[in-house]
Amino acid sequence: MKKRLLLLVVAMGIFLVTMAQITVDVSTKKLGAPIQSTMYGIFFEDINYAADGGLYGELVKNRSFEFPQHLMGWQSFGSVEVKDDGPFERCPYYVVLSDPGHRDRRTGLVNEGYFGIGVKKGEQYRFSVWAKVQGQGAGGKVQAAIRVQLIDENSMGEHQEFVEKKLDVTSTEWKKYTISLTSTKTMKHAKLRIFLHGPNSVCLEHVSLFPVNTYKNRENGMRRDLAQALEDLHPGIFRFPGGCIVEGSSLDERYQWKNSVGPVENRPLNHNRWEYTFDFRYFPDYYQSYGLGFFEFFQLAEDIGAEPLPVISCGLSCQFQNPDPTKPGVHVALDDLGPYIQDALDLVEFANGDVTTKWGKVRADMGHPEPFNLKYLGVGNEQWDYDEAHGGYGPVFTERLKKFSDALRAKYPTLKLIGTTGPNSEGWDFDLLQPRMKELKVDLYDEHYYRDEQWFLSHGLRYDSYDRKGPKVFAGEYACHGKGKKWNHYEAAILEAAHMTGFERNADIVHMTTPAPLFAHVDGWQWRPDQIWYDQTQMFKTVSYYVQQLYATNKGTHVLSLTTPAGKKSVPVAGQEGQKGLFASACFDKDAGEVVVKVVNTSKQPQPITLNLKDLSGATTAQTITLSHKGMDDENSIQRPELITPKKGTIAVEADKKRSVINDQLPAMSFRIYRIK
Ligand code: AHR
Repeated sequence: MKKRLLLLVVAMGIFLVTMAQITVDVSTKKLGAPIQSTMYGIFFEDINYAADGGLYGELVKNRSFEFPQHLMGWQSFGSVEVKDDGPFERCPYYVVLSDPGHRDRRTGLVNEGYFGIGVKKGEQYRFSVWAKVQGQGAGGKVQAAIRVQLIDENSMGEHQEFVEKKLDVTSTEWKKYTISLTSTKTMKHAKLRIFLHGPNSVCLEHVSLFPVNTYKNRENGMRRDLAQALEDLHPGIFRFPGGCIVEGSSLDERYQWKNSVGPVENRPLNHNRWEYTFDFRYFPDYYQSYGLGFFEFFQLAEDIGAEPLPVISCGLSCQFQNPDPTKPGVHVALDDLGPYIQDALDLVEFANGDVTTKWGKVRADMGHPEPFNLKYLGVGNEQWDYDEAHGGYGPVFTERLKKFSDALRAKYPTLKLIGTTGPNSEGWDFDLLQPRMKELKVDLYDEHYYRDEQWFLSHGLRYDSYDRKGPKVFAGEYACHGKGKKWNHYEAAILEAAHMTGFERNADIVHMTTPAPLFAHVDGWQWRPDQIWYDQTQMFKTVSYYVQQLYATNKGTHVLSLTTPAGKKSVPVAGQEGQKGLFASACFDKDAGEVVVKVVNTSKQPQPITLNLKDLSGATTAQTITLSHKGMDDENSIQRPELITPKKGTIAVEADKKRSVINDQLPAMSFRIYRIK
């Protein structure tokens, strides 16, 4: 009996300790650092089939027959020949369909799309093709024809095709032909079939199928649901096009922005390293068509209201993949950097130059005479220098960056330059680069960290100790990768939310943040977790996505001081020892005239909390938005896209003339935002 009583007393003690109220003081009248409009944003890389097969609306894979295996993605039957003297200089391949030699035989092609072609009942699709009649045609008639079908190969019905239209080709010169198809089915795994119709041979090039209903109805546009999800994030900054693909496995495979502009038919194919980087997630048909190129990136940035932030190669191919930088062809010699630097200068001209300039004219010819107002440029992705203990190859990155910086600063003194502290958020390479970025006077440096739960829990104060006189911080790639749980589980998202309070409290030096990666196809991913997932017809937003959205839409304009009384000294609530797993930040939203407090409870216990809002009176209720869920390993999915979503509510405020007080009980592992007017 005595033992039982003792146990009960101990249990009560533990309960009382865990339930001890934490009071958070917020000074609501003294505005701190402004929060940059670029604070929360997105980083796009063509990984996980994010471009072709993802955001880019094109439904046909290998539409220009440029893949090294020219019929990859296609099944051919009858008489199909691949030729290489087509009308587009940088995409020379095309096919010739000819008579199969017997009345009952057929010639044609079937395209499988990206993991199938996704179509929706009642939606219109634009089929287009560059074509010409081969030779004069039988009977001297300059006419050939094809039948274009959407098919359900696995249908048990009489007909596999559920849409068909005939297209007449009427010239021996290359011309673009377009027809519209309206789908009578919703399908994730439709295919596009083309039959040669009649005896005359026809040449086909750049065979394309696009939903008419793209984002902003653009012809070379984006998949509407995915682009809309980006707009709904309210991103302030948009970093593109990568990531590792900027660097390339070799210099030849680096992302060359000039190849990605101009007519889509003439944009040369590039490799995509995410085809082969992981042989345990291998995708032999993963290339970059550049259909989504730099013009489209700039335009998308404008459409979704984000500042564009292109990243260009600094003349180093991927340093992970090329550990010996002295090998020929791995890196550009310093003296040969000229064309790379010229690419950077020309990019600024492409984005901002007058229509009379060479590259400004290219932009204007593509339909955007107004400048894109480019203000930021990243040079290099995950690059680093070597010290004696690590290869001894010297400052391979910073000596190149300096050359870029000198040239760019001389011509475009207001352009903000972004360097990098390499692939790690700490360690010898980070320690080497961080001071060098300061010496080089880059405006911001790009930090990357994919780290586990413990890292996120113990780095709440990361930015509090940063040099206030150095470059500003761009947390350009980050995500919580659960130990043995590399999926978008709920707990990881809550830890990201906790970490982000540190961005906000340090908004004087943290000016940009973008989690990574952004997109992933459920059948084609190489890297996870990611923000947005999709298949051919559906998408879902992860809890991490909602965390980003909550921050971006409750960003505020100025930081407010937020402290907890700890003896005489006030310390920020940051999930450190003694703070009971609470992370918090506060800001003022000048436009709405509201105080916004964000609190994340990373403990497995509910936490009573008092928000003491000094110098704020008059409010009787506050608005709340909460992310809370019991299953730590749960995630949203195609099947259950809204399993975990933020919920709106209200809470009572007790106010006197000097302050407003909110007493709340935060659920275990939850993120709550309070907005008080
Ligand atoms: O986001 C995936 C990859 O992670 C990026 O390409 C690279 O920058 C980082 O290593």
